[in-house]
Amino acid sequence: SSVLRSVKTLAKPAGARGYSSESVPDRKVAVLGAAGGIGQPLALLMKLNPLVSRLALYDIANTPGVAADVGHINTRSEVAGYMGNDQLGQALEDSDVVIIPAGVPRKPGMTRDDLFNINAGIVKDLCSAIAKYCPNAIVNMISNPVNSTVPIAAEVFKKAGTYNEKKLFGVTTLDVVRAKTFYAGKANVNVPVVGGHAGITILPLFSQATPKANLADEDIKALTKRTQDGGTEVVEAKAGKGSATLSMAYAGAIFADACLKGLNGVPDVVECSFVQSTVTELPFFASKVINLTDNVN
Ligand code: NAI
Repeated sequence: SSVLRSVKTLAKPAGARGYSSESVPDRKVAVLGAAGGIGQPLALLMKLNPLVSRLALYDIANTPGVAADVGHINTRSEVAGYMGNDQLGQALEDSDVVIIPAGVPRKPGMTRDDLFNINAGIVKDLCSAIAKYCPNAIVNMISNPVNSTVPIAAEVFKKAGTYNEKKLFGVTTLDVVRAKTFYAGKANVNVPVVGGHAGITILPLFSQATPKANLADEDIKALTKRTQDGGTEVVEAKAGKGSATLSMAYAGAIFADACLKGLNGVPDVVECSFVQSTVTELPFFASKVINLTDNVN
């Protein structure tokens, strides 16, 4: 039939792939906490990213199922699941980007600081393994409280002698995504968000939003407050079942994509992120980061 004939014409010689592998470098991405509320949709979104050639899904439980499931999607990357501390090294080896959404999320009435005791230990152990198995990887820290887990990661890497401040990022992209949504609810707007990732430390700069809008002071106040309380809005709506997972996975996928583009030499990639900083007197501060190697400003 004509359908079969057109399929035959399209078919590539044996061994060839449906994209130019010369122009897209091999990149391994590891997700730690991949079976969680964020981890699963993030694994799905990273499987859809054509810049990824290997996707390693690590968790302390349930990763074989997630990896088998996501692995059936016919996109570029090869997927492998790793479960438990014994397989952490293998999961991390050769990784270019490591995304960390491991740890417990908030319940109603909790602040991000309430997560510190549990998540600090988890992040410390995972970062020790990163220092050992993939010391050059870019680290995207999602686990809360980001304002503390990023400095903890920095200290672990310093102690191991592997710290590179240009490769450690606290993922604040969800604050930006929320600010954009509340500002205009459209895809083609931008709102920088600086500061930190907890309550009033989240500072959306609606004055620098594009396209510009002449907002009244009270509108800016209301938009700012909604952005700062965005996480709590979701925690309360989920009523004890956790915090943002789907919008966080979307935001995490955008940030990881920006890191992969930066690694691949794409110019002028800008995202806000919580990084080691000289912008203020604070040692870490969220601001615009370009090509995920240098701070703008
Ligand atoms: P979840 O409880 O659904 O998933 C967490 C996963 O981490 C679980 O699968 C668990 O088995 C795994 N895990 C626990 N200990 C681990 C270890 N030692 N190694 C590897 N995996 C481990 O939680 P959810 O909703 O996915 O949230 C994860 C984290 O992300 C929380 O700390 C949460 O506060 C944070 N978060 C950060 C946001 C941000 O904007 N940066 C937004 C929303 C959540």
